[in-house]
Amino acid sequence: MTTLCSSSATELIAAWEEREKLVRKPTPWNELGPFYKKRAPQTASLQASEDPGMPLSVSGQVFDVRGEIVPGARIEVWQTDHLGHYDLDGYRYRATLMSDARGKYFFDSVIPGHYPDRVCQHIHYLVSANGHKPITTQLYFATDLVFEGDPDRNYNRDPVLLSRELVRPVVLRGDPKNVFADVNFELVMERL
Ligand SMILES: [Fe+2]
Repeated sequence: MTTLCSSSATELIAAWEEREKLVRKPTPWNELGPFYKKRAPQTASLQASEDPGMPLSVSGQVFDVRGEIVPGARIEVWQTDHLGHYDLDGYRYRATLMSDARGKYFFDSVIPGHYPDRVCQHIHYLVSANGHKPITTQLYFATDLVFEGDPDRNYNRDPVLLSRELVRPVVLRGDPKNVFADVNFELVMERL
């Protein structure tokens, strides 16, 4: 056994506490759903310029549970258009992204619509990276009218939505004629 002098022990504990601050909970699982398609195009623009719907920018960073960034993670996203329709023939509103050297990712889209089988607006995610467990999850919007302004109380109105953490704040910019929505969605992977 190694005995540490008190100053070394203090430094070690401080370093340990610093690391503890970085520890993150893994992103909660949420079901894949029936509309996933492989080989979505590599693009950060899911929205074509004339597409109707509220413009949405999603950004985030990929970490592991120790708080270390995960560059090169493959992030597949898919969603409906603003009216709640999935493109099952092609690849509209589907994309494959890669986290950059700082673990960051970004895409432009529109706020997805509601559709009959699902209560809440959502974007599906499938994330994989070498040495990490894949993440299957969904992103939800705190502004979804289903929550009536109180996602803490109402998130479980959608029986598929099991975790409040997946409901993300939405920052709205612009004016009533041109509203833009920004959402940040951090992804945290478990190591294999
Ligand atoms: Fe869906």
